[in-house]
Amino acid sequence: MKPIYLFIALFASIFLVSCTKHVNYGKGEVRIVPKPVQLTAGTETFELNSDIKIYGTAEFKNEVEYLSGLLHSVLGYKLRIADELPSKNAIVFELLKDDKQLGAEGYKLSVGVNFVKISANTPAGIFYGIQSFTQLFPPKIFSKFEELELRSATLPTCEVVDYPRFAYRGMHLDVSRHFFSKEFVMKYIDYLAAHKLNKFHWHLTDDQGWRIEIKKYPKLTEIGSVRNETMIGKNFNEFDKTKHSGFYTQEEIKEVVAYAAQRHIAVIPEIEMPGHALAALAAYPNYSCTGGPFEVHTKWGVTDDIFCAGKEETFGFLQDVLTEVMTLFPSNYIHIGGDEAPKERWNNCNACKTRMKTEKLKDAHELQSYFVKRMEKFLNEKGRKLIGWDEILEGGLAPAATVMSWRGMQGGIDAAMQNHDVIMTPGSHMYFDHYQGDAELEPLAIGGFTSLNKVYSFEPVPSELPDDKKQYIIGAQANLWTEYIATEAQVEYMILPRMSAMAEVNWTMPENKNYDDFIVRMQPMFKRWFYQNANFRLPEPQNQNITLLKDGEKFEFKSAIDFATVFYTTDGEDPDTESAKYTEPILLERNSTLKAITMLPGGLKSAIKEYSVLLESRVKRNKIYGLNYRYFPGDFSQKMPDFRTMKPASEGHVIYPEVDNFPAPDKKFGIHFTGLIFLPIDEKYVFGLKSDDGGKLFIDDKLIVGSEGFTALVTDTLEMLSGFHKVDIFYTEFGGSRNLKLQMETKGIKKQNIQPGMFFIEKKEE
Ligand code: ACM
Ligand code: ZN
Repeated sequence: MKPIYLFIALFASIFLVSCTKHVNYGKGEVRIVPKPVQLTAGTETFELNSDIKIYGTAEFKNEVEYLSGLLHSVLGYKLRIADELPSKNAIVFELLKDDKQLGAEGYKLSVGVNFVKISANTPAGIFYGIQSFTQLFPPKIFSKFEELELRSATLPTCEVVDYPRFAYRGMHLDVSRHFFSKEFVMKYIDYLAAHKLNKFHWHLTDDQGWRIEIKKYPKLTEIGSVRNETMIGKNFNEFDKTKHSGFYTQEEIKEVVAYAAQRHIAVIPEIEMPGHALAALAAYPNYSCTGGPFEVHTKWGVTDDIFCAGKEETFGFLQDVLTEVMTLFPSNYIHIGGDEAPKERWNNCNACKTRMKTEKLKDAHELQSYFVKRMEKFLNEKGRKLIGWDEILEGGLAPAATVMSWRGMQGGIDAAMQNHDVIMTPGSHMYFDHYQGDAELEPLAIGGFTSLNKVYSFEPVPSELPDDKKQYIIGAQANLWTEYIATEAQVEYMILPRMSAMAEVNWTMPENKNYDDFIVRMQPMFKRWFYQNANFRLPEPQNQNITLLKDGEKFEFKSAIDFATVFYTTDGEDPDTESAKYTEPILLERNSTLKAITMLPGGLKSAIKEYSVLLESRVKRNKIYGLNYRYFPGDFSQKMPDFRTMKPASEGHVIYPEVDNFPAPDKKFGIHFTGLIFLPIDEKYVFGLKSDDGGKLFIDDKLIVGSEGFTALVTDTLEMLSGFHKVDIFYTEFGGSRNLKLQMETKGIKKQNIQPGMFFIEKKEE
């Protein structure tokens, strides 16, 4: 230690008690995510200060070091490590003898007035107990805003008994499309650790970049880690003319693996084959069917050029690569990709055709199966297990492969039926590169819609699986593909808070899950991220998109974060800090469209959200708000019928023709909304309709706008009379994402969505 630091250390320890800044956390405020199996909040407090010692026996050396380091970083000083079990003023780790209930990863946490005990069968259990313990810390203790402050804290007492639902709790990161530094990868791993996730799937190679040093094939990184430019946005013809590069040396990989191991996280490397291999082929074109030449891919999407399955050299090369990979990654699992491999090249390659003939393979799918089986045999001989994306089912599954089901749940169901382990990661719920709010208000993303609520609602075990096959679902994983995620801040934005919801999917028993309770328990986590200066996505103010209020009822915003401020407008302007500040429920005198935003001190803000508020007392005589709907299950992708003449499977009433939240029990269906639309003035109108998939708008039985398939159309200017008009709206869904937007523009009304207060149906006679 340099003298100056020695001086500071002495100074610090002498004045520790008098100078520490105390942070209080209320009694009974025990909020843990993911939700534990059992939790009893106490009524007293534990003082975390410099009197506290840490104690653990030799098997918990790693956990003692981890907790000591963590407490050093938040308290500003090191706690003493005790040599013998202290009787008070301590945090101690206790080894249990095969407690059946807790299993390999469970723990008990007991926070008493002057003694904290974490008990487990294993170091992993102790580690998860530590994570729950840190969630009792006042979030402010994690503050990055105040430098080198000495802190102490009051924690609530509690008793926790906890263990996970699934053994595989994973999070993926694509570093090929955009490279992220080793330091950031470690920060990412810390987010996993805080959520009790135990698998980090590191997507190291793809068409757009090879990111791992392989000593035997130096060109993989010399050439394969550099792409000359990148397409801009969604425009396949426009490029940023900027080099993108980066890779991890083997030494750096070892550091990351060790860092993760200390946090009980296995790092699963993914080396993509036979597809998504263009960066490798740019370096070594011989391992392709055509021989190249190739460039590291500058566009997103799938490429036809893949590893040649006919040439023996390809297998030699890939086995050499995997041999080095296995020296770096002790993980049981090695992921070999296997997704999105077009078969054109193989079908036109002499070597591949010869291979199909000599191996008696019926087609290119069986050739892919042959390819994967060969890789599996190689890995199994080295004591490792193969994981592949669900395409590895095509042409026959390798004997012991674990399947990652990403194209929905079906691949996972098929694999489980064949007694193969499955990790569920369907695009519908587990793709964190998808939008998490209204696409028009969110930063550019690849597509989709995976809100926090939707992630939370995910159930990894399909109900259609027979009971004896359910055991093959070993857990779930969320994936972060980074085509449209170029910065570390954007990575944080896409994973936080969705990772918290995913952690609860994996850890918490379904009967203990509840979204509203989850949001309440998330409060300290949001605050912790705030103090850690993380770029998390701040949820919008909470309420339904459309609210119908009775006489005298007030409109209420709930903030998902209790220390945030909500600002709102009623005049259509976007709200900011100059707008009205929400302090209490609002009494509205007319039908209104409110726009609101959540803000935190320091400038972090949510997306703006729009809310339609309708007053029941304002409804025209004999009419009520909304439309009738008529529902038709079926595939209408070939032709949209005239639903008006058909008999529906079911009928009902909605306030607004929304399709994204429509409770359709089928994947493919049609809806006919019918009722009246109220046009406010005699004027020229322009109507617009956007729809995915088909949509049509009729007014007074005349087709105004729309088409059979994906549509984004506007009408010419139409002269319309004010008053009520018959309206019919058709929507057809072919499976996948749902979207229907109806827009209108007229004098005094700029183009906007047709407001809920404009749709009516006749009131039935009482
Ligand atoms: C994938 O998203 N192509 C696995
Ligand atoms: Zn070939």
